[in-house]
Amino acid sequence: MIKPVRHIAAMSPYALANLNAPKGKRLISLSQNESLLPPSPLAVRAATDAVANAQLYPDPEWRELRDALAKRHRIPSDGILCGNGSMELIACLTQAFADPKSAVLAPAHAYPFFRTAAQLAQARFDTAQEDNARVSVDALIAAVQPDTRVVFIANPGNPTGTRISRTELLRLRDGLRRGILLVIDEAYGEFADHLGEPMFDLVGRGDTVVLRSFSKAYGLAGMRVGWGLFPEQIAEVVRKVMNPNNISVAGQAAACAALKDHTYMQATCQTTARRRDRFIDRLRDTGFNVAESFTNFALIHFASAVAAARANAALRAEGVFLRAQGGAGLPTCLRVTIGPEEEMNIAVSHLERWVREEKT
Ligand SMILES: Cc1ncc(COP(=O)(O)O)c(C=O)c1O
Repeated sequence: MIKPVRHIAAMSPYALANLNAPKGKRLISLSQNESLLPPSPLAVRAATDAVANAQLYPDPEWRELRDALAKRHRIPSDGILCGNGSMELIACLTQAFADPKSAVLAPAHAYPFFRTAAQLAQARFDTAQEDNARVSVDALIAAVQPDTRVVFIANPGNPTGTRISRTELLRLRDGLRRGILLVIDEAYGEFADHLGEPMFDLVGRGDTVVLRSFSKAYGLAGMRVGWGLFPEQIAEVVRKVMNPNNISVAGQAAACAALKDHTYMQATCQTTARRRDRFIDRLRDTGFNVAESFTNFALIHFASAVAAARANAALRAEGVFLRAQGGAGLPTCLRVTIGPEEEMNIAVSHLERWVREEKT
């Protein structure tokens, strides 16, 4: 028998959402934090046009995209790396800066892919307690070990939906040794940009990376485009472990065009936020405990893990797929992506029915 290396054999595959609807039921997937709207028509057209030249390899330096990002965010284009989704950048950063002799640290209810990235690098994965599903800077600083090399924090967080302020992030950075790489994952950053707390300036210190994604606010999850602002020396190293031709011509063209349609992206965020807050209010009126969210999803806290599992099963039986959060250390929670109005109404009515049936 041909054997894989031991640490890969011991790993579970990264768990994506299971989207097999029961026979005869229409699938309503509110489980992957995809955008409720399609991408900007400009992005669709640009991607379609780009395919006409798909016999050529894509630009390995993402020059047009980097220039557009630099202009949009007023940041240096030299420090930008683009990934096949920000997942590629998370995995490559970890591979380049953590190893079997070191540890990666993240909040207890962080995005589960941080753990997978640490496992791939054979690094220990440490977690720091959160304060009511909100990142605790004090707990993170206290959890740092002599061998901690990388600290990941998603802000806003997934699956918590909560965020910490710029002041808190600065306090976190100040509380970490200089030799520790801090990665601030802002995959949902555009949903909080109106708060006016950009973090890109921290990258100038040389020990901090800020990641973003086109998968959420730009509605381009299927195109796989993420990016980040990196200190030059970190970028040089990460580049070595990345796929040199990582983003397709269509993906690069779509992302460039989407950036030009800033109004469309902002409108998507506003529509999402309005619908999200209405959904949260309706559930709270029914007696559900739902946290405030700064993202395109909401997190429902149930009284117990059993109750969360029962609600999840009841909705799945109807074809409505929410996302259980045991993998993020929140077995009492279900995460609901904010989707089209009709689908949200169906989800609410099934949740209300579940409550009524639980009571009887
Ligand atoms: C916090 C966080 N970071 C990164 C990602 C990955 O995004 P991408 O689609 O850019 O790989 C996700 C996706 O859900 C996420 O929730």
